[in-house]
Amino acid sequence: MREPGIDRDTLLEQLSARQALEPDVHAAKLFGLVYPSGRPDLEELIAAVNARYLFGNALNPFRFPELAGLEREVVDSVASLLGRPAGERPVGAMTSGGTESILLAMLAHRERARRRGIERPEIIVPQSAHPAYAKAAHYFDLDLVHVPLDEHWRADTGAIRKAITGRTAVVVASAFCYPYGVMDPVAEIAGAAADAGVGCHVDACIGAFVLPFLERLGHDVPPFDFRVPGVTTISADVHKYGYVPKGASLVLHRDDDWFELQGFLYDQWGAGIYGSAAIAGARPASPVACSWAVINHLGIEGYTEIVSGLMEVVSKVRSAVAEIDGIELVGDPIGPVLALQSETLDLYAVAETMEDRGWYLNKLTSPRGLHLMLSPGHAAVVDQLISDLVEAVKTADGAPTPQETARYS
Ligand SMILES: Cc1ncc(COP(=O)(O)O)c(C=O)c1O
Repeated sequence: MREPGIDRDTLLEQLSARQALEPDVHAAKLFGLVYPSGRPDLEELIAAVNARYLFGNALNPFRFPELAGLEREVVDSVASLLGRPAGERPVGAMTSGGTESILLAMLAHRERARRRGIERPEIIVPQSAHPAYAKAAHYFDLDLVHVPLDEHWRADTGAIRKAITGRTAVVVASAFCYPYGVMDPVAEIAGAAADAGVGCHVDACIGAFVLPFLERLGHDVPPFDFRVPGVTTISADVHKYGYVPKGASLVLHRDDDWFELQGFLYDQWGAGIYGSAAIAGARPASPVACSWAVINHLGIEGYTEIVSGLMEVVSKVRSAVAEIDGIELVGDPIGPVLALQSETLDLYAVAETMEDRGWYLNKLTSPRGLHLMLSPGHAAVVDQLISDLVEAVKTADGAPTPQETARYS
């Protein structure tokens, strides 16, 4: 640490210079990691709420009862959005992100399995599921059992049924998955889980703030939430398509007694009883307050309008891709996440040409291809994106560059 500190203006200049070396999060040139809403009014609201909640701590609901109340209201709103019957007590908590929500759901299922006498439970995870399940297995002494996808890039229910054993704690379904944006057959998977008496976790980290609104817009959305019998937990990220800054997700449980299994209580400390429902101890107040504000500000109508605009961007990109010879979508994506593959073109070379033009497309390894998470903010740049993509494809030849490892980005 420096002896004398640096003055404010110099610090801000340094930060501006460093930020200028990274992609602009507002420019809609990224296709994942950030989710530009294209709504300056929302960002202004978030900044105002953030300024009020910079230093709160969501760890202690007795010291910050109103903050705890905001969290309960967020849990309640999202639980009812995701099919929890009205009037029933919402059970769940806010977490720092999809990974923490998934870790806590897997922990609750592990505890449940241990109560059934299973010392080292297994979790059954389709190949397209997020690495957070592997992390949960690593952290919580679980065995990760991968199951293949079917020919439509969806989790294969037949393979899941075969993989369930006496040690299975939970099976996972994505609604929808990160790599291809396709829905797993949640009702079938949850049915297989219920038949075997095991849990079913639905990963709606991306889908929770897209699918309910697509349904309202009349799209064909297969049931994926608590309306499906057998679904025991759901993870839902507000910091993706909920348009709140990072640090905001939810883990939701169908039953009260399952929720208790994710909690931690310790009464052997000189500073008193310590209880926490999350992995973190101290928790920032701002993601809770910002989630409460954005969810209440937009409401179902606001989110539906945003998803309607987003799907116009998606259809423009899908139509353009359909026109390009040699490129096709991977599977049948339900919403704004698209994966592209080609048997004739080197799509990694296309990605590099696009990067030279300032577009940061993601690379997929299986199949070798490109990956785009479209956001509402892309509406302002979609025509340029399409014309640059068409040009980039023209310059790419069929000889693939040597395989390089794609990074999650
Ligand atoms: C389907 C899915 N689940 C979980 C996660 C993990 O979320 P986070 O990065 O917020 O931990 C992601 C992240 O992209 C995801 O796409």
